[in-house]
Amino acid sequence: MRLDDPEVVRAEYASERRFASRKAAFRFADGADAREVTFDAIVEARPARYLEVGCGEGELAERVQRELGSEVVALDQSERMVELTRARGVDARVGDVQALPFENEEFDCTAAAWMLYHVPDIDQALSELARVLRPQGRLVAVTNAREHLRELAAALGTERQQLAFDGENAEELLGRHFGRVERREAYGWLTFPGRSEAQAYIDSSIVYAGRRLNQFDGPLRVRKAPVVFVAHKQ
Ligand SMILES: C[S@@+](CC[C@H](N)C(=O)[O-])C[C@H]1O[C@@H](n2cnc3c(N)ncnc32)[C@H](O)[C@@H]1O
Repeated sequence: MRLDDPEVVRAEYASERRFASRKAAFRFADGADAREVTFDAIVEARPARYLEVGCGEGELAERVQRELGSEVVALDQSERMVELTRARGVDARVGDVQALPFENEEFDCTAAAWMLYHVPDIDQALSELARVLRPQGRLVAVTNAREHLRELAAALGTERQQLAFDGENAEELLGRHFGRVERREAYGWLTFPGRSEAQAYIDSSIVYAGRRLNQFDGPLRVRKAPVVFVAHKQ
């Protein structure tokens, strides 16, 4: 099951059910909150016009609109995600980050949170995100490093699938289209209280669904390793 297979991605995000369940597991997290680190990076840009691609359920887009008063446009390939984002009062459109339906230099800030690893042609997506940004604008791109949830994969007796855009290769990929790239880590731990909570996460996972954890007592502690990249357009 490849995370950058368009058929897999389309089927996965046709509904929010499994995705919402994965996000809910982060109630067990400690350490820096990647969503706050992401929001702070957007605040710094003080965008008059803000574009978010792969907006999912639209929480971040709505927050930027409400708290920063920015003119916000959100885009997602999933009709359901666009519907949910519109329900929050955000101008959301169905579209593909690899072919953005916008003019050159329309936005002060763009964000792509946990979505670039789903895109078959990352260079094309990054080139589009750079094109629609004004000079000195910024892209805030979020992904996970390779050690993210490593202990969970180990508990299943497998290895984590390497993402096409991850904490280790993102700087090089972003550097092909942007000037300076900053890296902000939001590492910490997820402590599943017991086997059933950990199994619920696995059941909602794209790559691990169908696998069973062996019985164990007590909590399961796994590393979380999100990285927020801030890429500045020259
Ligand atoms: C893991 S979710 C992240 C959602 C949201 N950014 C968040 O952080 O909660 C990935 C999202 O990217 C969208 N997506 C995947 N490939 C896309 C593409 N090529 N163009 C636009 N959206 C895409 C999916 O439909 C899904 O809503």
